[in-house]
Amino acid sequence: MNRLGFFKESIKNLRTIGTITRSSKYLCKGMIRHVDFKKARVLVELGAGDGVITKYILKNMHKDCILLTFEVNEKFCNRLRLIKDKRLVVIEDSAEKIGEYLKKHGASEIDYIVSAIPFVTLPDELGTSIISNCQQYLRKGGLFIQVHYSLLAKKMYQKIFGNVDISFVPLNIPPAFVLVSENRA
Ligand SMILES: C[S@@+](CC[C@H](N)C(=O)[O-])C[C@H]1O[C@@H](n2cnc3c(N)ncnc32)[C@H](O)[C@@H]1O
Repeated sequence: MNRLGFFKESIKNLRTIGTITRSSKYLCKGMIRHVDFKKARVLVELGAGDGVITKYILKNMHKDCILLTFEVNEKFCNRLRLIKDKRLVVIEDSAEKIGEYLKKHGASEIDYIVSAIPFVTLPDELGTSIISNCQQYLRKGGLFIQVHYSLLAKKMYQKIFGNVDISFVPLNIPPAFVLVSENRA
């Protein structure tokens, strides 16, 4: 999908997509730098769009690692299915169902979750439910890595994980924050 295609899809679904451009290479790198690819064997991506971060993850992923990618938009899922990599599982469903799909694919816990779901524009209850489910299935010491364009949702991560570390990526439209929470429960 080209930039115009992504833009058109975003305009049609602004609340669920939450931005009009896909993540820049600087933002993709700023997200995945927190992942220890040598050790990770179960990765989850939420809100994959047409796969810009997905491709960076796959490029760095261990051969025995799986990537479960959740995306609710049908057109984006069709683009994701064009990525031919046996380690990638495209799940056309809401991230809320993370536990169900984890079990289905033979995994019990997740090493890292990389998310671009626009929690600021989604209902609070949905965001809280998704992030709480993520916390439940992340291994101890596992990281939840989230992109945001403001710090409005910061308190949600503090409440659920009890910690959040923030970095800023100026070279993105719009400039973005990467929020990282560790599962210490
Ligand atoms: C800001 S876009 C990110 C796209 C891409 N990852 C990127 O970084 O450019 C957010 C994506 O989250 C998806 N999304 C929104 N709610 C979701 C949910 N409940 N479960 C899974 N994906 C969701 C949207 O359809 C959209 O593609």
